[in-house]
Amino acid sequence: MLGTADLCMWPPPDLEERVTRLVRQAVEAGVTLIDTADAYCPDEGSFGLGETVVERAVASLPPPLRPAVMTKGGHTRFNGTEWGFDGSAEYLRRACRRSAERLRRRPLDLYALHRPDPAAPFRESVRGLLQCVEEGLTREVVLSNVDAERIALAHDVLGPSLAGVQNEFSLLRPDGRREIRLCERLGLTYFAWAPLGGARGVAGLARSAPLAAVARAHGCTPEEAALAWVLAAGPAVVPVVGTSRSRTLRSCVHALDIRLTDAEVAALG
Ligand SMILES: NC(=O)c1ccc[n+]([C@@H]2O[C@H](COP(=O)([O-])OP(=O)(O)OC[C@H]3O[C@@H](n4cnc5c(N)ncnc54)[C@H](OP(=O)(O)O)[C@@H]3O)[C@@H](O)[C@H]2O)c1
Repeated sequence: MLGTADLCMWPPPDLEERVTRLVRQAVEAGVTLIDTADAYCPDEGSFGLGETVVERAVASLPPPLRPAVMTKGGHTRFNGTEWGFDGSAEYLRRACRRSAERLRRRPLDLYALHRPDPAAPFRESVRGLLQCVEEGLTREVVLSNVDAERIALAHDVLGPSLAGVQNEFSLLRPDGRREIRLCERLGLTYFAWAPLGGARGVAGLARSAPLAAVARAHGCTPEEAALAWVLAAGPAVVPVVGTSRSRTLRSCVHALDIRLTDAEVAALG
């Protein structure tokens, strides 16, 4: 799965061409899902930029090649570049409708609650997501940045409309195993965001001696070994990698074929 957050939050002058090229290359390499969010934009005034750019990239492909898109709502942008929350059911329904318009898909493939709103009861946000499904705005929903208790609660309410969870998980943030096991039990996909630790973390991974040793054994790069470690966390796990270059995109696709031994997995994490 290809993530587009950083490119859309710090857009280069050729943003649209870059995303279009990356989406095409990702699809040609076998990627079937693109991740975006209404709040992936530099500021309040450009809210929705990420979705607009992803829509254009996807629409540039012939229909049989077009990947599914996951988008998220529940984060607001205000005072220029600040990030806020609105997890009320009414806001989520409105935000989902706007996302469907920007992405020109109704229903959306996957709509995610970006992050629980500390000021809104979580049950109310889940009710808003259910209403999005019932109104035909999205086929399925996803919860992002949630613990096992919230996943279980939402699963009770949403049943088969809940497709998965999107949480941070990497060698640098390895504490998601409870949620991964729960996703396996409930038949949900666990989308692991920032599987390389983000733009800052990835530089540290490249300097890790244990990772370098595993990488040497597999004839791959340390970053590819780190992605293989994420994949080894279980069959429910799908990494959401942010790449802004063709080279790193190809490298991530290569990592999908690397199988670490149990001993290597244990030694790394
Ligand atoms: N749900 C949420 O709250 C949430 C939060 C954050 C992110 N996300 C999603 O997760 C996606 C990924 O997150 P992220 O971009 O912060 O973290 P990431 O994927 O862990 O790291 C991205 C960084 O790793 C580099 N990279 C990627 N593949 C590489 C490879 N094979 N070899 C060497 N370097 C590689 C990228 O370089 P290049 O740019 O040079 O390719 C970029 O600097 C986002 O785009 C977004 O879709 C979701």
